[in-house]
Amino acid sequence: MAPLHDEKAADDSTQRPISNILFIIAMQTEASPLVNKFKLAEEPDSVFPKGVPWVRYNGKYKDLNINIVCPGKDTTLGVDCVGTVSASLLAYASIQALQPDLIINAGTAGGFKAKGASIGDVFLASDVAFHDRRIPIPVFDLYGVGCRKTFSTPNLAKELNLKVGKLSTGDSLDICAEDEAAILANDATIKDMEGAAIAYVGHLLNVPVLFLKAVTDIIDGDKPTSEEFLQNLNAVTIALDLAATKVVDFINGKSCSEL
Ligand code: ADE
Repeated sequence: MAPLHDEKAADDSTQRPISNILFIIAMQTEASPLVNKFKLAEEPDSVFPKGVPWVRYNGKYKDLNINIVCPGKDTTLGVDCVGTVSASLLAYASIQALQPDLIINAGTAGGFKAKGASIGDVFLASDVAFHDRRIPIPVFDLYGVGCRKTFSTPNLAKELNLKVGKLSTGDSLDICAEDEAAILANDATIKDMEGAAIAYVGHLLNVPVLFLKAVTDIIDGDKPTSEEFLQNLNAVTIALDLAATKVVDFINGKSCSEL
């Protein structure tokens, strides 16, 4: 079956200049350089429900109002709330509260060298899908995979010379044989833990979403994923920060239809 297109996002709102951007970033380490770069301030009087760990940074950069939201630290374990559950809830609440013109889900990803990914590459995702939602019943199987084309940004990809590839999302950092087969079926170049979930929420609420993913580890390489991920996280975050800044500079003054 052909992937779903985000046509709902292609209405009149795509014609006016973008003024309000929402970054959704899972890890504090990934978010901090961008918060500093755009000179954003943490907003203590949260638009979010009392007691949630979600964090919001806000400020003006050029002609844009920028919010960066993070799911924050697990209230029991103190680690970043990575994964699809927190990402979906945060995306929903942030869209409701902040009414963004455009969402950018920026973060790190694993990459497949067989598909052309190298450490430090920054990809723009052309398609997203899940690889760990196995429902072997007709039609539910397709719902589980949730294959979706992302909001098309041909000018942005060309101008910034970004690599473009398909993104597959699941709730595990490591990979089992079933996930590997699904990722292969999804034709994915990169693998993350939030993208397809955020795409789902963007589609539900009619907000275009871009996916900017920097490669920290090579899944079909010879190093253990968690080791390689931790080893490269800080350096790769710098590449992500640079690319995200270029993306925002490109977006400034343009409408969604010009991307
Ligand atoms: N983020 C960074 N590396 C990843 C991987 N291998 N899988 C999922 N998310 C990631």
